[in-house]
Amino acid sequence: MTFEVQAWLAEARSLIGDANVLTEDRGEDLSSFVKDWRGKFQGPVLAVLRPATTAEVQAIVRLAAGTGVAVVPQGGNTGLCGASVPTNTGRQVVLQLGRMNKLRELDVRNNTVTVEAGYILQQLQELAASAGRLFPLSLGAEGSCQIGGNLATNAGGMQVLRYGNMRDLVLGLEVVLPNGEVLDLLRALRKDNTGYDLKQLFIGSEGTLGVITAATLKLFPLPTAEASAFAGVNSLEDAVSVLEAMRASMGDRFTAFELISHPALLLVRRYFPETPRLLEEDCSWYLLMKAADGGDEAALNDAMQTALMACLEQGIICDVALASSVAQTKVLWDLRENVTHAQQMDGGNIKHDIALPISRIPTFVEGMLPELEKAFPGVRPIIYGHLGDGNLHFNVSAPNGVDSKAWQARTEAVNKIIHDATVALRGSISAEHGVGQLKREELLQYKTAVEMEVMHRIKKALDPQGLMNPGKVLST
Ligand code: FAD
Ligand code: MLT
Ligand code: ZN
Repeated sequence: MTFEVQAWLAEARSLIGDANVLTEDRGEDLSSFVKDWRGKFQGPVLAVLRPATTAEVQAIVRLAAGTGVAVVPQGGNTGLCGASVPTNTGRQVVLQLGRMNKLRELDVRNNTVTVEAGYILQQLQELAASAGRLFPLSLGAEGSCQIGGNLATNAGGMQVLRYGNMRDLVLGLEVVLPNGEVLDLLRALRKDNTGYDLKQLFIGSEGTLGVITAATLKLFPLPTAEASAFAGVNSLEDAVSVLEAMRASMGDRFTAFELISHPALLLVRRYFPETPRLLEEDCSWYLLMKAADGGDEAALNDAMQTALMACLEQGIICDVALASSVAQTKVLWDLRENVTHAQQMDGGNIKHDIALPISRIPTFVEGMLPELEKAFPGVRPIIYGHLGDGNLHFNVSAPNGVDSKAWQARTEAVNKIIHDATVALRGSISAEHGVGQLKREELLQYKTAVEMEVMHRIKKALDPQGLMNPGKVLST
């Protein structure tokens, strides 16, 4: 059967409107849709399609399935593993969900909200707050990432310690399957044991099993008080002791526990020179912590201060600064977010996103640092991340003088050292960013044959033609 590109595009235009089928031959700039955030992955497309309703998504997916065109679902394109952009094989279109951004229902008494996939995360946080509720997912890309993307990646971020990953925040889902059928799982129930929990299959599936078009999400009481603190510690052993102590004193009020290494802090200072000095002395590691509750700010600050002073007295913290204003709180959290941006500006960075049992992190890092130095003299590990969740961004920057391209060529060797050691401790090579194209081949080394086979069977059952985001997670 011959494939007529112009006829296909004309059909797509008739389904979702001329202006919503973007093509290069009409002079439209597709670069922000076909290249990933880090600029590592890029591929050609027939078009970028922007449907506005579930029926339009369904019509496009049906057209694609009937004509052998692969569909790459895309939200804010902030993903970090090359899952949201086309590969270099076959005919592909990007299905951009940004126009599917309607609020379907806000049920304040049920503490739920139903939104379409293209709703921007930050806008959802704001919507919830205006109704006196909290939507707790919070991450550096929240100003542009979309709920559909957050679901498809099972996003984590800063408050997993208290509220869990995206997976834990979902009650219902609406999905357009690869054959164009709509799977309506949009229920707002906290208890439902009527068979397999199908929605969980699509959460974290990176767009390979269907297009998420809407979701019903949990809301929580909006805290009336928040307290943030920045502390220095001399070792990761001490950092884990601080976590234990703070959780014991603060209980469920403790919402975030982030780690920043001294080299990571120096990198932020280099690229964001306005970053203030927060502690008098430099330490090996820094902790950024947050607590929140429904009481008054002074009482929460007192509780946080008492808990931190006890850590100081025990000698597990060397110095600490409590934020005493909204502006100071922003300085602390901007510093954490800027680690990612500073690394991107610095270039030559091999990124890792590992998870380990928290108790094992100190020995893992202590063993890994000399091993990397031995293999790559002068290497610059830039470690930070969500220590409270056992998730480290164990990134490795090029030794000074080694250019970015030459360093990227060592990726496989660097990954092998870090990922072998991670998996030996029954850890994960991707705690939050996913597999995409970046870790697709490595997955084969670290998952059992049985686990891979089950994943392939699920993929085949839902997407027998292999047209839904092909080449991501799995090689077919
Ligand atoms: P995209 O990047 O567009 O897509 C990601 C994946 O989801 C792709 O596989 C895509 O095909 C699929 N997808 C998108 N929409 C749909 C849909 N409607 N249906 C089916 N599949 C879909 N991630 C974290 O977990 N924690 C962090 O702390 C964090 N911080 C970040 C900070 C920065 C500065 C940046 C740039 C990224 C960060 N990320 C983080 C990664 C990224 O923001 C998340 O993975 C986010 O959830 C992706 O959302 P998105 O809308 O941009 O999705
Ligand atoms: C973060 O924790 O800041 C994000 O996951 C992005 C990154 O890996 O830098
Ligand atoms: Zn992260």
